[in-house]
Amino acid sequence: MTAILAIETSCDETAAAIVSSGTTIRSNIVASQIDLHAQYGGVFPEVASRAHAETISAVAGRALDEAEMTCADLDAIAVTQGPGLVGSLLVGINFAKGLALATGLPLLGINHLEGHAYSLWLAPGFSEAEFPILALIVSGGHSELLVMRAHGVYERIGGTIDDAAGEAFDKIGRLLGLPFPGGPNIERAAQSGALDAYSFPRAKTSGNYDFSFSGLKTAVMRAAAIQPSASARSRRERRAARTAQLRADVNINDVAAAFQDAVTDSLSATTCRAAKDFAVNAVYLSGGVSANQMLRNKLASALDVPLCFPPLFLCTDNAAMIGAAAHFRYLAGHRSGLDFEARASWRLSEDVYAD
Ligand code: KG4
Ligand code: ZN
Repeated sequence: MTAILAIETSCDETAAAIVSSGTTIRSNIVASQIDLHAQYGGVFPEVASRAHAETISAVAGRALDEAEMTCADLDAIAVTQGPGLVGSLLVGINFAKGLALATGLPLLGINHLEGHAYSLWLAPGFSEAEFPILALIVSGGHSELLVMRAHGVYERIGGTIDDAAGEAFDKIGRLLGLPFPGGPNIERAAQSGALDAYSFPRAKTSGNYDFSFSGLKTAVMRAAAIQPSASARSRRERRAARTAQLRADVNINDVAAAFQDAVTDSLSATTCRAAKDFAVNAVYLSGGVSANQMLRNKLASALDVPLCFPPLFLCTDNAAMIGAAAHFRYLAGHRSGLDFEARASWRLSEDVYAD
């Protein structure tokens, strides 16, 4: 049995958790900054790192208290090394390094996307499928399709070539005047909308397993926003054109419903094709967008292998998932030392921990 204290500060959640043996959550503290960033309509990096610095110590202390543990009960400390906002990552990394130095515990820098993939291992009643498993990780910053061949062995077969799925939700949410983050608010608005009120494009990426959402975003803009005049030449006119204005006759719920239908169609079609082509035994869906019910429903009905997804509280960023991934890395002998750096752009691939 292992007990790992995990720290996660890659974006706008300050989180700490204690996880036993990669599957049992002993405590899971998430201090969200959503209210701080809502006024900017997105995550403001300077504000995020300052808020992490203010709360990390208390959040880690609470994780230990709620698990009724001290550092003497731990086997290791894990921290998100990347990808993410560099200033935010550094707060968690430096805190974890300090704690490792003070306690003499081993330290593991963990890939955030690997954390999302391992959030499934924490789901109640989870039982590991036989590899290969197809992992679809869809978050605010990433949309990745990976074949997991064993613990920690990934073949990246596709990903977004432009916006991440969650980013598209957030951008369209902003256009529709919905609160940040866009995903859950679009999902709510879509419940009272007609998904056939608009017919938005589904990006065709046959021949590979990539996703693309920028064409969809443009189509939604065209349908719902006032178009800037072609002669918008002055600086002020160009700036006004960038902050799109909704047309008065637009029904926000209808746009939300048709947009969500298009995004989830694209994600589901490509994932199902990949599941067949790579003869996987299960599909593991994770990341913030995995909270979306329409996506879950479409995948569950189209796949002919089991679909697993995390409970809602593990879909968005948390430290428990970092602790779960760290457990399997710890068993494989992975240790980071005290001199590793934040990796703001870091893909999950076969040699993810190679220098
Ligand atoms: O995994 P996450 O918490 O952070 C990143 O690692 O990026 O994902 C956040 C993203 C946001 O873009 C948010 O709009 C999206 O997940 N999201 C959703 C839903 N809940 C959160 N997207 C669609 N439907 C949802 N219910
Ligand atoms: Zn994430």
